[in-house]
Amino acid sequence: MRTILVTGGCGFIGSNFIRHLLDTDSQVGVLNLDLLTYAGNPANLADLTGSVRYRFIQGDIANRDLVRQVMGKGVDAVVHFAAESHVDRSIHDSGPFLRTNVVGTQVLLDAAREHGVGRYVQVSTDEVYGSLGTVGFFTEDTPLAPNSPYATSKAAADLLVRSYVNTYKFPAIITRCSNNYGPYQFPEKMIPLFISKMLRDERVPVYGDGLQVRDWIHVRDHCAAIDCVLRNGRIGEVYNIGGRCERTNLDLTLTLLEILGKPRSLIQHVNDRPGHDRRYAIDCRKIERELGWRPDIDFNAGLADTVRWYADNSDWLASLRSREYLSYCEKQYGRLAG
Ligand code: NAD
Ligand code: TYD
Repeated sequence: MRTILVTGGCGFIGSNFIRHLLDTDSQVGVLNLDLLTYAGNPANLADLTGSVRYRFIQGDIANRDLVRQVMGKGVDAVVHFAAESHVDRSIHDSGPFLRTNVVGTQVLLDAAREHGVGRYVQVSTDEVYGSLGTVGFFTEDTPLAPNSPYATSKAAADLLVRSYVNTYKFPAIITRCSNNYGPYQFPEKMIPLFISKMLRDERVPVYGDGLQVRDWIHVRDHCAAIDCVLRNGRIGEVYNIGGRCERTNLDLTLTLLEILGKPRSLIQHVNDRPGHDRRYAIDCRKIERELGWRPDIDFNAGLADTVRWYADNSDWLASLRSREYLSYCEKQYGRLAG
């Protein structure tokens, strides 16, 4: 049995990844280290309670003693998701982003190195490359030019990982993925926020002109890509992961309204995000060529399934809305998430 330490496994992508691992490989056991910040929700993995192949440890990746102790439990590989992940929050306060995303990564790297962990995957983002104009794509060789405090903290972590490979021959690989959608995403991010508001006939806040472009990928396609990288990726390499699916925020909003049968009058243009990146688009030919991975889930079908999932799981959404974070959001942003 191989033991994989997954950090941030109670968040959106981490929880989907743990389910993917346990469903696809009977020889794998998972240790999930998650602090349970506002974004971590143990209900995302409630179905795994009692599984002998799954163990949850609540704790901070920046806690050196704890991470050393966890790493000492015979960890074969690390897949590092834990992060502060929301750009708008990073604009209000970059402190937690630097602490978790940069210092947390350093602590994990040191402990993994100390314990001779055989493989380490750093789950990063296309946002480290900055913003594109109307043409072109991010390749793995695109220079890093992060624009938000969130993206900057992720880029700093990527560079630290790179330096550990170079300096210590540490067996790390970096993945950089575009925007994910799917079940269990915290409803402060655009797609679940808009769905939950539309379901309640509330207006949805489209930043600026809404013509910013994101390249969307279903979370299950992202998880399959990370699994490929974990198994067969080359040490020291960066792999871009994308859905080949560019949409403007406005187009995406119109599609969500159409799926839910709601009127266009629910669209409310609000002030733009400061420093808002205009366009992201990923060239993912390297992972396709080297590892044989491809995005598989059709965007329209995946989006319709996702809308259905949030509509069917209104209890999941409601439980988050009632949590403490709501007062936090209100204080920080003067509006309610979800
Ligand atoms: P998320 O915000 O849904 O989940 C983050 C998880 O990390 C939560 O469970 C939280 O409790 C945990 N966490 C936060 N700080 C911690 C700490 N100090 N110690 C331990 N656990 C902590 O994020 P997500 O959307 O699932 O993103 C996961 C990773 O994927 C992040 O590293 C993010 O940068 C990256 N990523 C996300 C996207 C996307 O579209 N969501 C795209 C590309 C890359
Ligand atoms: P988001 O889900 O926050 O992801 P990211 O900023 O990491 O790309 O936002 C996706 C896009 O949607 C981004 O261009 C910002 C925009 N957006 C809105 O227009 N309104 C909103 O309320 C939110 C949260 C995002």
